Amino acid sequence: MKVMIIGSEGMLGHDLVDVLSLEHDISTTTIWTLDITDINKTIETVRNINPDVVVHAAAFTDVDGSESKADLAYQVNAIGTRNVAVACRETDSALVYICTDYVFDGTKGSPYYEYDQTNPLSVYGKTKHLGEVYIRDLLDKFYIVRTSWLYGFHGPNFITTMLKLAETHDKISVVGDQIGSPTYTLDLAKAIAQLIEKPAYGIYHVTNSDHCSWYEYAQLIFEIAGKKVELDPVTTEEFGSPAPRPQYSVLENYNWKMEGFDKIRSYKEALKDYMSLL
Ligand SMILES: NC(=O)c1ccc[n+]([C@@H]2O[C@H](COP(=O)([O-])OP(=O)(O)OC[C@H]3O[C@@H](n4cnc5c(N)ncnc54)[C@H](OP(=O)(O)O)[C@@H]3O)[C@@H](O)[C@H]2O)c1
Repeated sequence: MKVMIIGSEGMLGHDLVDVLSLEHDISTTTIWTLDITDINKTIETVRNINPDVVVHAAAFTDVDGSESKADLAYQVNAIGTRNVAVACRETDSALVYICTDYVFDGTKGSPYYEYDQTNPLSVYGKTKHLGEVYIRDLLDKFYIVRTSWLYGFHGPNFITTMLKLAETHDKISVVGDQIGSPTYTLDLAKAIAQLIEKPAYGIYHVTNSDHCSWYEYAQLIFEIAGKKVELDPVTTEEFGSPAPRPQYSVLENYNWKMEGFDKIRSYKEALKDYMSLL
């Protein structure tokens, strides 16, 4: 198939290029070649490529920064996604949109299903959710892929941050009361490659399986790294990030499994693989 990847220089975008180019004819755009906030340019670019599938992995991903730069987050995540959807409608391309666990408020206390009520808390979550709404209003052929706590080789992430902090700090404070599923971008890219083979359009939760708090995640990182570091579990309130985050945002990969795809491996196994290559 002809597959267009928007946001190919991002953390996930890089892995999407590596994985999807194995089976497909790939075209890529970056912020330098296509700013998705420009509707005319977006339509023109997608029309010129005329892809079977567009994978839209571009976003304003600074969760805390979105609180003070709400206009920019809205322009990119909501309007930019609308523009991509309009372009896909013109070329009759299927669209894969990468969304987030932050569309939920985290109060459910058990894993979120695809059909659970959304209620984003942060500006970032709200703008990403609006992207979903535009796609559902404008397109028939779409895969909305909600994922969480991404890490990969091509971007700063929690693991590299922890390892760097350990070089200069004897003690590191880590949030202990937010629970989620760390997800390896390479595993997510492989899942998207499987998904686009099937016209089973709709919303999917796609994450590595099992879950932890950020504190437990940090413990595992240092265990695998063989480093002794004193970790201090703090509450979300004590940590004091600008953007509110859901306390419990584990995503049940229900539709994924229902479509017959294999359960995605545990975050623990994926993390070991990733760290063995650092
Ligand atoms: N990271 C996570 O933990 C996480 C969790 C759940 C869902 N997601 C979603 O997964 C997707 C991929 O995330 P990621 O972590 O790979 O993000 P990332 O590394 O920040 O990549 C996003 C890319 O989009 C580009 N971009 C920003 N504004 C743009 C615009 N107006 N037009 C075109 N491109 C633009 C960025 O360019 P610049 O870098 O030059 O700005 C960057 O290359 C996003 O949709 C994100 O919302 C991420």
